[in-house]
Amino acid sequence: MATTPMTVLVVGATGSIGRLVVAESIARGHITRALVRDASKARRSLPNEAQITVGDVTRPDTLAQAVADVDAVVLTLGSDGSAHSSPESVDYAGIRNVLVALGTEKPRIALMTAIGLTSRSSVYDHLLDWKRRSERLVRASGLPYTIVRPGWFDMNGPDEHGLVFLQGDTRRSGSPADGVIARRQIAQVLVDALTTPEAANRTFELIAESGSAPTDLAPLFGALRQDTPGSLDAVADEANMPLEQEPRHVREDLAAVTASTRTTGT
Ligand SMILES: NC(=O)c1ccc[n+]([C@@H]2O[C@H](COP(=O)([O-])OP(=O)(O)OC[C@H]3O[C@@H](n4cnc5c(N)ncnc54)[C@H](OP(=O)(O)O)[C@@H]3O)[C@@H](O)[C@H]2O)c1
Repeated sequence: MATTPMTVLVVGATGSIGRLVVAESIARGHITRALVRDASKARRSLPNEAQITVGDVTRPDTLAQAVADVDAVVLTLGSDGSAHSSPESVDYAGIRNVLVALGTEKPRIALMTAIGLTSRSSVYDHLLDWKRRSERLVRASGLPYTIVRPGWFDMNGPDEHGLVFLQGDTRRSGSPADGVIARRQIAQVLVDALTTPEAANRTFELIAESGSAPTDLAPLFGALRQDTPGSLDAVADEANMPLEQEPRHVREDLAAVTASTRTTGT
């Protein structure tokens, strides 16, 4: 499908999804910038056409070059559970730091989180709560966005490529019974969302069922409800994370992201 070439920044570019996002973005003719921590590792795993920019989302001072003049940002970050890589510091604060670094830039955002993130599960150091908070930051930013909550990666059968977009995040067992999806299709949906008007300001769970891959995603995006303007949560999400019970620094981050992306004369 022909799309308007853009400069696309991929954050999490060396990851199992990010690598596929980089390839998909290049295939669609976009100038594709990969934020990486280790340039030599990235050179080994990414196509030559990818522009490598070195940075670490936990260090805001390293992000200026990555975000300069971007038209779109795809965020597929994931913490690895090591001492310096927690759900709070990477999955949450990493998103905050990228949004703040954008300053006056107004790119389209595509954020990948996870199915079942409204479950209030405490597993993996409250990973799902931190991912939900990262979604809230993106909605508060006022930037045009699409938030994709994939099911379980690559656990689909060979005939399961029929995409299904769900809302309300009601599948919260924390197992593949919630839904499965091929990594490649997640990347395609994330990149497609950047240029599909019907995808703007939508949040949805992404799974696949029996069937072949659709050629045009616009009808799937168009059938979704938009998130309510001004709301921190996705439309139809259970209201089980009251803002007044959130940690003070999380509430301060929401205010900071709102201020940083909505100022300066636009
Ligand atoms: N597995 C599933 O079925 C499933 C389903 C739904 C959602 N998810 C979510 O998907 C995410 C995993 O996606 P994935 O498989 O693509 O992850 P991954 O392969 O672990 O990749 C994570 C990416 O984040 C980057 N990263 C980590 N810390 C960073 C930092 N401080 N600064 C810059 N980049 C940093 C990594 O860079 P380096 O290469 O430098 O480490 C890597 O590119 C998880 O958060 C998980 O919760 C998983």
